[in-house]
Amino acid sequence: MFKNIAMDFYKSINKKIAIIPFVFLVSMDIAFAQGSANSNTDDSMIWVALLGFVFVIALLVLMVAVYLLQLLKSIVRKEGMEKAKAEGKEYIEEKGLWSKLDKAVLTQAVDVKDEDSIILDHDYDGIRELDNHLPPWWKYLFYITIIFGVIYIGVYHVFDAMPLQEQEYNTEMSLAEEAKAANISSDDVGIDESSVEYSDDPSVLANGEKVYSMNCAPCHRADGGGGIGPNLTDEYWVNGGSVNDIFKAVKYGFPDKGMISWEPLLSSQQMSDVTSFVMSLKGTNPEGAKAPQGERYVEEAVVVEEVVEENSTM
Ligand code: HEC
Repeated sequence: MFKNIAMDFYKSINKKIAIIPFVFLVSMDIAFAQGSANSNTDDSMIWVALLGFVFVIALLVLMVAVYLLQLLKSIVRKEGMEKAKAEGKEYIEEKGLWSKLDKAVLTQAVDVKDEDSIILDHDYDGIRELDNHLPPWWKYLFYITIIFGVIYIGVYHVFDAMPLQEQEYNTEMSLAEEAKAANISSDDVGIDESSVEYSDDPSVLANGEKVYSMNCAPCHRADGGGGIGPNLTDEYWVNGGSVNDIFKAVKYGFPDKGMISWEPLLSSQQMSDVTSFVMSLKGTNPEGAKAPQGERYVEEAVVVEEVVEENSTM
């Protein structure tokens, strides 16, 4: 009899196991194909392939294990049934792990045949009630929330071991302030309105243009033609048109007239670069630019009369 079972086992397992090397080879092939398809394969690709490979192997091992377990179970069952038959008794299968788990954790239900022990006295037109347990998982979850609540109150409100949200926010903010201060002072070159100089260096102007298009274009237009803020391309300035005046305008702004101070947001290098960029816009006369405002600014040495004529007629 044992020989028969062993033969059955061998036969059935033989067919299925034959697939395994095949699956193994195919998965390896896929892994390698993925690896070589991309000529600039980096380390992460190899890791992914390796991980996939290990995963496939693990899956196979698991499948075989489950299969063997099932087989073992059926052997035990067959054995037990034959034994019970020989002794002329009824075969009672032992409860599996899952049904044990189901009972202990999910329902804790009383067997149907023992329901008499938990039936309540009252009878509503023939409807009776069973005094079942609460589902254990639910009950334990509830206990856990109570324990969590006690720990939470202790940690946050009794012993002050951890910061509350507001304290956390304040520490983060002050840390950020410090970081910002450190950042500005460490890489700031310290240009101010008296030391600022105009530069036509293309890299300075390019950098200034970047700062301009990100911060200033919404009010002064992308081409400097003016919008909410004045036209920056003409020769007329409300607050003076020297390099120092423009730097000052950027640095301190005109908070009461609608332009913020850029000092807290831009480094002094950025303010200096954008000043040069604004000055480089002079005379570009973009279409539809805002009418000149303020006084005409004339640089000490150079005076170009024609340009003034043109601008004032606009
Ligand atoms: C929220 C809109 C706004 C933004 C953004 C803005 N400005 Fe202004 N700007 C204004 C207004 C409004 C004025 C006019 C102030 C006045 O009348 O004195 C002005 C004035 C100026 C002036 C002086 C003009 C003059 O005629 O004297 C300069 C220079 C200037 N801005 C440059 C910049 C630069 C550079 C940026 C970007 C870093 C910028 N602005 C960003 C609104 C803005």
